[in-house]
Amino acid sequence: MYSEVAKHTAGASKNLWGLSSKFFWSFKWHYFVLMLSDYGRSAMVRKYDAVTTDRAYTPQFSGLLGPLGTFVDRIIWNYPLHQALRERVQNVSDILAELIEKNGKEIRILSAPCGLIWDLILTKEKLERQGITLSRVHFYGLDLDFNGDVLPEARSRAEANGLQIGLVRDNIFNIRRHYKMEFEVVNCIGLISWMELSEVEALVKYISREILTRDGYLVIDNFSRHEHSSIGDDLEIYTRYFDPAELKQLFERCGLKVIEERTSSQGINTVYVLRRAKT
Ligand SMILES: C[S@@+](CC[C@H](N)C(=O)[O-])C[C@H]1O[C@@H](n2cnc3c(N)ncnc32)[C@H](O)[C@@H]1O
Repeated sequence: MYSEVAKHTAGASKNLWGLSSKFFWSFKWHYFVLMLSDYGRSAMVRKYDAVTTDRAYTPQFSGLLGPLGTFVDRIIWNYPLHQALRERVQNVSDILAELIEKNGKEIRILSAPCGLIWDLILTKEKLERQGITLSRVHFYGLDLDFNGDVLPEARSRAEANGLQIGLVRDNIFNIRRHYKMEFEVVNCIGLISWMELSEVEALVKYISREILTRDGYLVIDNFSRHEHSSIGDDLEIYTRYFDPAELKQLFERCGLKVIEERTSSQGINTVYVLRRAKT
């Protein structure tokens, strides 16, 4: 059931052996070097799920064949795309902390897909540094967790970081099944790049009309093609790079106004802050 709706693996058909055979017969032998890196193999096998994405966030390097694998792992960690992922999570947690501060009242934040809840843990840390009372902030998460190992790890990280959070495993289109309340803020990063534009429209409409409060905010992101985009194609990681103008029109059609955009330093990722127009 989960494989049908796991967007980050959409279109992928080959396992590591299948990919190896494809690389061998197409003379793309340089990919065997990437396979020495644990980060590289994770991207090939799991695609950009929360576990692979997690590798971008922490500078811990490992791989096969001792120092050689570790060296390749470090190179991959330094790819501009992975730098952009680090900047994205900082941008998002800054935005969430600012929205919480500005709101000043009880506030419900939903991270979907939440992955390993880096966005919420960093937000909590930022709020604590600013001396903002956390008792009025209610954190929730939802993720499909295709392999079933992400949400247990997210739970233990929440506990280790003293973050009280509700977490559920499901398709993002089923938020309502679990959470009967509306949310002042929904953070939806790392998902639409794996969707067709029509699906993005259905998702944004769903969040705007059914999940957000009347003047709630949606935080969402988009990527631009970058120097390693073709690697993604070879690894069957089929990323959509949406035209920003088209995406903004889509947001407006869904009743959301672009309040702010934050783009990573090399222009690879843009985070949009959208506000639901009052009706
Ligand atoms: C690139 S990760 C992003 C995780 C997190 N937002 C972050 O930035 O670290 C993509 C996540 O989308 C989740 N996902 C994929 N398809 C989904 C769906 N249909 N509904 C909910 N989550 C989904 C995956 O399980 C994975 O955790």
